[in-house]
Amino acid sequence: MKRKKKILKIAIDSPAAAGAGTLAKAIAKHYNLFYLDTGKIYRLIALYKLNFPKKFNIKFLKKKIRNLKKKNLEDKILLSDEIGIEASKIAKNKNIRKLIYLFQANCAYKPPKKYDGSCLDGRDITYKIIPDADFKFFITANVRVRAMRRFKELKGHKKAITFNEVLKSIKKRDKSDYSRKISPLKKTKDSMLINTTKLSKRACFLKIKKIIDKKLKNNGNI
Ligand code: C5P
Repeated sequence: MKRKKKILKIAIDSPAAAGAGTLAKAIAKHYNLFYLDTGKIYRLIALYKLNFPKKFNIKFLKKKIRNLKKKNLEDKILLSDEIGIEASKIAKNKNIRKLIYLFQANCAYKPPKKYDGSCLDGRDITYKIIPDADFKFFITANVRVRAMRRFKELKGHKKAITFNEVLKSIKKRDKSDYSRKISPLKKTKDSMLINTTKLSKRACFLKIKKIIDKKLKNNGNI
C-alpha cells in the first residue's frame, strides 16, 4: 500500500568521527524521522567476517541481511576500531554493497508509519541511497579533532587505545573511503557543507535546524 503523506528524507555523508551520527540522531528526533546509521551495517558485516571466517560468503550474508533488524546494529562491540577498519575494507566490495542497498533504501523510502520521514548517515547516502533527498549535508571536521572525539568515545567505553592509534586508524579509513572506486566518500554539489571543527554539538544542531526550517517554511510545510 502506498503512503498518502509525503515523507521528509534527509541524507548525510561524512568521514569517520565527524559528529554526523550524533547530529543525525538529534535531527531525526526533532523532526520525528526514522534514523539509520548505515556504517553500523558495514560494521556488523565486519563482525561476521571476524567471528565466522570460514562461513563468510555472499550466501551466508544474504541470509543474515534478510533477517536484519535495526536492533541488531545496536551492539556496543561494533564501535571498536578494529571493526571500523575491517568495515572499511568490506565496504569496497561491490557485491556486499549491492546486498545491503535494499535494506537502506527501504529504511529511507518506507520508514515505519509512526515516523514523518527518514534520516540516514553514511558515505554514499547523498548520491546512491537517497539521491532525491529533501536535504543533503556533508559533515566534516579537522582530522585531529575527529580523532580526539573518537578517542574520548572509545575511552568512555573503556577501550585500551591511545590517541595516536585512533588518529592513525582514522587517517587510514579516510584514505580508503575517499579513494575507493566503488561508492567513495565525496561531497556532492547539492550537499551543504557543515564543518563541525569549532562548533559544539548544540551549535551544529541549531545550524542544521535553521537550514531545514527555512526551506520547510518557504515550501509551506511549517
Ligand atoms: O560510519 P562508520 O565509521 O561506522 O562506518 C564504518 C565504515 O563503513 C566506513 O569507514 C566506511 O568504509 C563504511 N561505510 C560505507 N558506506 C556507508 C557507511 C559506512 O562505505 N554508507
